[in-house]
Amino acid sequence: MSRSAHPAGPRHADVLPEGHYSAPPADLNALDPKVWAQTVERGEDGVVTVGGIGVTQLAEEYGTPAYVLDEADFRARARAWRTAFGTDADVFYAGKAFLSRAVVRWLHEEGLNLDVCSGGELATALSAGMPADRIAFHGNNKSPEEIERAVRAGVGRIVLDSFQEIVRVAHIAQSLGKRQRVQIRITVGVEAHTHEFIATAHEDQKFGIPLAGGHAAEAVRRALQLDGLELIGIHSHIGSQIFDMSGFEVAAHRVVGLLKDIRDEHGIELPEIDLGGGLGIAYTSDDDPREPHEIAKALTEIVTRECESAKLRTPRISVEPGRAIVGPTAFTLYEVGTVKPLDGLRTYVSVDGGMSDNIRTALYDAEYTVALVSRASDAEPMLVRVVGKHCESGDIVVKDAFLPGDLAPGDLIAVPATGAYCRSMASNYNHVLRPPVVAVRGGEARVVVRRETEEDLLRLDVG
Ligand code: LLP
Repeated sequence: MSRSAHPAGPRHADVLPEGHYSAPPADLNALDPKVWAQTVERGEDGVVTVGGIGVTQLAEEYGTPAYVLDEADFRARARAWRTAFGTDADVFYAGKAFLSRAVVRWLHEEGLNLDVCSGGELATALSAGMPADRIAFHGNNKSPEEIERAVRAGVGRIVLDSFQEIVRVAHIAQSLGKRQRVQIRITVGVEAHTHEFIATAHEDQKFGIPLAGGHAAEAVRRALQLDGLELIGIHSHIGSQIFDMSGFEVAAHRVVGLLKDIRDEHGIELPEIDLGGGLGIAYTSDDDPREPHEIAKALTEIVTRECESAKLRTPRISVEPGRAIVGPTAFTLYEVGTVKPLDGLRTYVSVDGGMSDNIRTALYDAEYTVALVSRASDAEPMLVRVVGKHCESGDIVVKDAFLPGDLAPGDLIAVPATGAYCRSMASNYNHVLRPPVVAVRGGEARVVVRRETEEDLLRLDVG
């Protein structure tokens, strides 16, 4: 990423300090459609709107901080994935990115399936009417109670993650007089993140059963022997926030290699493979994610080619995008509390949330951008760090970005691309209350997850 000096403004130094930032954008009032939800635009009065509603109105009605979710954009992205993969493949939205009952209903209506990985996610999915046979149940340490609930509910598949779990699920299914459809999650020796992938040193992780050393083949042998299980396929998930398709290519090659070995050993062709999620989104203007139709084309071609060369029927493919569907559809709306210029360094802008509503910057060194949204401004850009209200210095929401030099307490700023892994990983650190999720569509806003209250906090405190 480039770093460069920029015209000295009233509140920043001539020489910029170390940091991951590009030059300030030519127009600080512009909103890059790559990182903002589809219906976001700045009105003539300078106020940013989403779904036709101004952020000042949203802040007044629902308070700040708030996650503001563009429902039309969510539905459009879900539909784009569904359409891209067509009827010969299944799209399972990964609920861990963000799950609520409204989201489950939208997914159901748009024809997507759902991947859950805990009893809580399963309960949310079922309570919002997702048909159980369209749910996949994941996780490296599902409890016997969770497995029993999933089997009883009739989930479409359980993804088996260990040798113990093969036996556990088989036993539970059999005791309920059922035969559970399952996939086996394998680790194929590929770990991919963002721009690169590593094809070594991958098996050293908690998920799945290693392909190497014949472990995956042994897992298949055992699963095929158990009456409580119907083995329908092999699962692989190689990482998250990936832009480069080459990791998927190696993964597909190895998964198909296992399907071929299974055919040769057992005389059966497993009908499904799941290539997991992990497709990247734009957090800043420097990121260039691929469109769902490009991803679908690339994955389908890879699998078809690999199967042709292995002389196998092409299995039904499924994928599990989470971030790529919900990530870009929401922004977090904050009110500026304090503005603290530090000479020769940068200006610290404190907002009314922080690492409790977005842990990703502290946890992964994630990059975000930010904009002044309650008004337009022609002031010179100043280099800012957006920080929260928590009692630690690592409480950073946006490490380095530019905001107008006249930013003041009371202004509203928004951080885009916070739809995935922000509300779902939110905490009550410092007993800060988790923000609501407000869905906006066609000029109407409604709370889909309400703001936490002090009563909520105290209700759990039974001492
Ligand atoms: N399928 C499986 C089996 C997964 O483990 C995951 C994510 C997904 C699908 C969805 O991946 P996505 O398309 O959303 O990248 N908290 C981290 C991301 C953790 C992802 C865990 N597994 C973050 O904030 O970046």
